[in-house]
Amino acid sequence: MATEKLNIGIILGSTRDGRVSPQVGEWVKAIAEQRGDANYEIVDIAEFQLPFLGTTDGTEPGIAAWNEKLAGLDGFVFIVQEYNHSITGALKNAVDFAREAWFNKAAGIVSYGSTGGARAAEHLRGILGELLVADVRTHPTLSLFTDFENFTVFKPAELHQKNVNEMLDQVIAWSGALKTLRTS
Ligand SMILES: Cc1cc2nc3c(=O)[nH]c(=O)nc-3n(C[C@H](O)[C@H](O)[C@H](O)COP(=O)(O)O)c2cc1C
Repeated sequence: MATEKLNIGIILGSTRDGRVSPQVGEWVKAIAEQRGDANYEIVDIAEFQLPFLGTTDGTEPGIAAWNEKLAGLDGFVFIVQEYNHSITGALKNAVDFAREAWFNKAAGIVSYGSTGGARAAEHLRGILGELLVADVRTHPTLSLFTDFENFTVFKPAELHQKNVNEMLDQVIAWSGALKTLRTS
């Protein structure tokens, strides 16, 4: 019996003008698509124009669209950038705008910052636990000093490609396993 491919969203965590997250997300997507093992897509939270949670009546179409997008995904790769030793406010707000759509899915993290975005990534892991998202171990960490030129042009070192594939191996395995919980 042919099984359907998993749908994996590569979520861009930053929204500011001049952000580098689209470069990192497209690089991850290009590596992922060479594998042919899942449907991979960029999910840009900026496109949903989410308000700040609790400041509106919640009828903005982007809120429903965001939840529908997440509901259609089996797993995630978060592109995480470090802002004041944590994730961006935009990503936290977007995470908070959904609940059941996150449950029983898997996620990998690719982060960047002066120390590879490690502190932000660890904060995100704590958040994901509350939402029943199983975050995998392998975690490519990109340095603003050595993987970017002038902190803006993404030039990743070769070694990261292996880590991205290892992270995706884990995301695919766990996304497939957790799908059985959602369909049983
Ligand atoms: C508000 C703000 C706070 C930041 N704080 C940190 C930090 O604590 N640690 C760090 O490594 N980089 C920090 N940075 C640098 C960002 O990681 C860097 O600018 C990165 O490119 C941001 O991702 P983006 O371009 O996708 O927005 C900060 C940047 C901003 C805008």
